Amino acid sequence: MKVLIATDKPFAKIAVDGIRKEIEAAGFELALLEKYTEKQQLLDAVANVDAVIIRSDIVDAEVITAAKNLKIVVRAGAGYDNVDLAAASDAGVCVMNTPGQNANAVAELVFGLLIYAIRGMFDGGSGTELKGKKLGIHAYGNVGCNVARIAKGFGMELLAFDAFCSDEKIAADGVTPVKSVQELYEKSDIVSLHIPATPETKQSINKSLLSLLPKGAVLINTARKEVINETEILEFMQERTDFKYMTDIMPGNHQEMQTKLQGRYFATPKKMGAQTSEANINAGIAAAQQIVDFLKNGNRRFQVN
Ligand code: 3PG
Repeated sequence: MKVLIATDKPFAKIAVDGIRKEIEAAGFELALLEKYTEKQQLLDAVANVDAVIIRSDIVDAEVITAAKNLKIVVRAGAGYDNVDLAAASDAGVCVMNTPGQNANAVAELVFGLLIYAIRGMFDGGSGTELKGKKLGIHAYGNVGCNVARIAKGFGMELLAFDAFCSDEKIAADGVTPVKSVQELYEKSDIVSLHIPATPETKQSINKSLLSLLPKGAVLINTARKEVINETEILEFMQERTDFKYMTDIMPGNHQEMQTKLQGRYFATPKKMGAQTSEANINAGIAAAQQIVDFLKNGNRRFQVN
């Protein structure tokens, strides 16, 4: 059996070494495709493999068709909007993610971006503090609850909205559940986004929702660019000069945002929420173990299609 790691944005070397150990201990072979620049390289690399480990790499119908022996794709990470699940199912390919494995890394970056924002992007001027501020956690999954854990250390007041998580679970963490997205935005000084990109959430962070935020609010996006209505956030920010937006996923209109919103907008050059050795090791090794367990024992835990 042959397992391919196909990562446009590579894992730390220590994680690749760990994955190799797992794969080879199972008697399988490991192939590596990193930093590829053309889709054709991915199409060629998947041609003869049984399993693939990816990150945000696009696995569409064309990739699945090219991978004649493919049995399983594991997205080493949380969001699997980059995989064509229907095409995988049609081809009898199992798709999994590795939930929770990179959640702490993403949650820590939220606070990096947040402090950068409220301290005026380190411009030497007088900023504000997190203590006592209301943090709205938009979706209370693995990242959301890590954000809550860290925010408590800053002495923040916590609110959360999650359409799929019970109020009891949220409240058990000392976080106040709210009844609607609108209520979350009305009541929060800062909102941290942790929603996946789905047909329901795409473009859902729009002007009417953002308009509910109080003066001086900050929005942190370590989730997906697709959930933001990019035209409307720019429009909103030009009107609401008190508002700041920090994102780990560069928007399509980045140049315009950068030029027009100086001092209030920041985007990382490449999504780096999960870019820590620890997260790479956790997610990469979990992916390798899930592949071995699936190919040897048929274990389908974490299947998403
Ligand atoms: C995820 O969904 O796990 C995160 O967005 C991390 O994505 P990445 O592996 O491409 O950094």
